Amino acid sequence: MDKLIVKLSGKNIYQHPFLIARALSGLCQKVKLGVVHGGGPQISETMEKFGKKPTFVRGLRVTDEEDMEITEMVLSGLINKYLVGILLREGVLACGISGKDGFLFQGEKHLPEEENIDLGRVGEIRQVNTRLIEVLWEGGFLPVVSPISADKEGRSLNVNADWAAAWLALATQAQGLFLFSDVPGVLADPTDPQSLIEELAISQIPRLLEEDKIKEGMIPKLKMIEQVIRGGVGSVFIGHIREIEKLPQLSLDATLFGTTVVDG
Ligand SMILES: Nc1ncnc2c1ncn2[C@@H]1O[C@H](COP(=O)(O)OP(=O)(O)OP(=O)(O)O)[C@@H](O)[C@H]1O
Ligand SMILES: [Mg+2]
Repeated sequence: MDKLIVKLSGKNIYQHPFLIARALSGLCQKVKLGVVHGGGPQISETMEKFGKKPTFVRGLRVTDEEDMEITEMVLSGLINKYLVGILLREGVLACGISGKDGFLFQGEKHLPEEENIDLGRVGEIRQVNTRLIEVLWEGGFLPVVSPISADKEGRSLNVNADWAAAWLALATQAQGLFLFSDVPGVLADPTDPQSLIEELAISQIPRLLEEDKIKEGMIPKLKMIEQVIRGGVGSVFIGHIREIEKLPQLSLDATLFGTTVVDG
């Protein structure tokens, strides 16, 4: 049976609950499915309620100790359980976990290339233990994963959700990784929605990043992709959440509109 990893963006989970739940319900009857979610806007909103101003460095959220608590509350609590709820209503036995559970994602503090920048509790994954995912699949559950990970001491790390999804795809040797967002895919010009790159060769990625055409949250996505493809995950897709409804039909005749990453 095929394995697929789907990443949902915090930017539109709440706008499309039925679309998402129906698509995932159809899909998980056909393949071993893992769902990873982000929560960018919800974390920012909650931080603002606590009087804190969100700041980002190349698409990664600066996360001090207090921000870490807020981030964990929102991602592993609110959003994770919201997704579980909409899936339960659709008849799917969803089980919400975070990257900390069963040491799914063990990581360490992320040190950006710029030496003088400290992103606080932002982490990157070093080791994946898929045992819990396997157990859930064996039991007929759909794993819904918050990207919050644990360092060696079990303390929380804020890991970008695209990175978490990428690591899960690598560790489970999934056939496909689908990153759904609020844009039609990777745009050659981020201000022009018509400039979609439908087929993106991994060899093009370094130049796109250098040319400054890839900004904010698209940076961490593209930074992991080469590793994902080279690591044996068959295909990576980046596209708008609307495309998710075609996923259950994928093995038949459906093709998704967006960016497909190819090895080349
Ligand atoms: N060249 C580009 N092509 C497409 N999107 C781009 C580009 N450059 C920057 N972006 C931005 O990247 C954003 C997607 O990343 P972002 O981190 O904001 O959301 P996400 O990863 O889908 O959700 P979450 O962070 O909640 O998991 C788009 O909304 C868009 O504004
Ligand atoms: Mg993001």
